[in-house]
Amino acid sequence: MKYYQKLIENNAQWAAEMTANDPDFFAKREAKQTPHYLVIGCSDSRVPLEMMTGALPGEMFVHRNIGNQVWETDMNILSVLQFAVHVLDVEHVIVCGHSNCGALKAAQGPQSNGLVDHWLSDIRDLIRTQRPALDACPDAEARLHRLSHLNVLQQVGILSRMPTILDAWSRGRRPMLHGWVYDIGTGLIERVVEQVDSAERAVALLPAH
Ligand code: CO
Repeated sequence: MKYYQKLIENNAQWAAEMTANDPDFFAKREAKQTPHYLVIGCSDSRVPLEMMTGALPGEMFVHRNIGNQVWETDMNILSVLQFAVHVLDVEHVIVCGHSNCGALKAAQGPQSNGLVDHWLSDIRDLIRTQRPALDACPDAEARLHRLSHLNVLQQVGILSRMPTILDAWSRGRRPMLHGWVYDIGTGLIERVVEQVDSAERAVALLPAH
């Protein structure tokens, strides 16, 4: 119970701190949100998207799932993407992977993980199609790091073919797509790919196979 109670205490302290310098901090945000970013991250508890980027409430629209994946059949992310791009008009869509991702580790092994194996199947496919690039890595650590990059590039590529994104691009240049890998061990973001604004550019992201 003490861990749970701590959350409530922290919340009260945080709300007091935020209004200490700006009494209207929360009131200003009540009516609407105008985020500049949609960030698609992993559910991993060590990847605090707002905290690690200094994003304030209202700045970042967030979707998280295991392995920061973009599935064309996932009604959840399709809805998030559609709302973020067409209603909120975000300028940037960022896929944020991370080091030591349990999803990527699990997808590399032969062991069964139960229900989550369905969700890892696209990552297993990616590992199969990118085997030459992965096998060229000198050790398991380098291989996992490479896979974290490939996974982010794969998801940016899928985003670039989404009707929601293509429709937005046909009417202008928003949003830009970006791919990051966050290093849990240093707290720093590695920029894997930036400013993808066409399907042609996205197609060339992954090594040919
Ligand atoms: Co992860």
